[in-house]
Amino acid sequence: MDQKQDEILKKDRAELLQAQAELWCHTFGYLKSIALRCAVELGIPNAIHRNGGSASLPELLGTLPLAANKRSCLPRLMRFLVSFGIFKEDISREGTTTTTTTSVYQLTPVSRLLVDGIGMNSNTEHTCQSTYVLVCVSQLQVGASLCLGNWLTSSDENTPFGMAHGMDFWDFTGHDAEYSMLFNKGMASDSHFVVNIVIHECAEVFVGVRSLVDVGGGNGAMAKAIADAFPHIKCYVLDLPHVIHGTPTDGIVEFVAGDMMHFVPSADVVLLKFVLHDWSDEDCVRILTRCKQAITNKEEGGKVIIIDTVIGSPSQQILEAQLSMDICMMTLTTGKEREERDWHKIFLEAGFTRYKIMPILGVRALIEVYP
Ligand SMILES: C[S@@+](CC[C@H](N)C(=O)[O-])C[C@H]1O[C@@H](n2cnc3c(N)ncnc32)[C@H](O)[C@@H]1O
Repeated sequence: MDQKQDEILKKDRAELLQAQAELWCHTFGYLKSIALRCAVELGIPNAIHRNGGSASLPELLGTLPLAANKRSCLPRLMRFLVSFGIFKEDISREGTTTTTTTSVYQLTPVSRLLVDGIGMNSNTEHTCQSTYVLVCVSQLQVGASLCLGNWLTSSDENTPFGMAHGMDFWDFTGHDAEYSMLFNKGMASDSHFVVNIVIHECAEVFVGVRSLVDVGGGNGAMAKAIADAFPHIKCYVLDLPHVIHGTPTDGIVEFVAGDMMHFVPSADVVLLKFVLHDWSDEDCVRILTRCKQAITNKEEGGKVIIIDTVIGSPSQQILEAQLSMDICMMTLTTGKEREERDWHKIFLEAGFTRYKIMPILGVRALIEVYP
């Protein structure tokens, strides 16, 4: 073998080894989600926050509820979580024990989202995203996603979630009060997070609005925050009976139990946050047709406001989050994440004339749709 051939083969072998490393990263990618869930379950973000924003290993060991025979696992878990940006290691502040130096960990912007009670607005305790993580990285959802391959090769009309758990997602939330409460809490934390940005970045969408109905509005987190920020807007929430009946009323927002496929209460603005991505195109047209009928002042600014994904972003991370959420929707529901052309088609079919996409919410966008 001549030297040139030898160099080519050497390069091929290096590429193969690199490819294997990449394959391992994808094969074990689920462990990032699991480690993230562990961090939330153990309360690591809160522990670091309570310790003043950074904590050494002994400080963490002193406060986390680890079994005595698992304490040596913590540095390995922390090393992994640091490797993909959940925490960072403060090299300048290595702590010392009597015999060795020890790592000091800090929060990153990602783990700050998992701390109870720090956030961007007065509802700080609610913006914490840890329940959202617990809901999404749960036996129920991960178990359902493991059915995806079988589901794709079966003619079963069920979703992978239905295949795994014997009923569709919304029926399940209606049957399992504990999961339903956790799910609604997780959704509410997302709403508190998003509404703060909406109110500050595009308050103009609420100008002239006298009434608003949040369709599929869960426990009313979004509607309550809108009513707080704009007291002149009368806010309603429509959701399924089991969600509405488990929600305490506050006299500010009016709750209506019902099925959006059949009825949407009238208002100047109909809000659909994180709802349409749960449904097929046909169902979205049906829901939007009902919403259009419900708009009271069609000639004077009445509209539907949608908060959902419009696939496509120059940011690789945002795009990856959008595409991951699309597979999550394939697993749990009959819905999907949509590109602008998909939205365009649905809006026209539901009888709307124009729309405006405002990409102000990171992974998601705010879309105004006019009758
Ligand atoms: C993904 S959650 C979004 C909740 C809320 N909009 C948010 O973003 O926090 C979807 C909501 O739609 C509600 N929902 C599902 N089917 C419904 C129906 N047929 N009629 C009314 N609400 C429904 C669910 O109960 C749930 O609260």
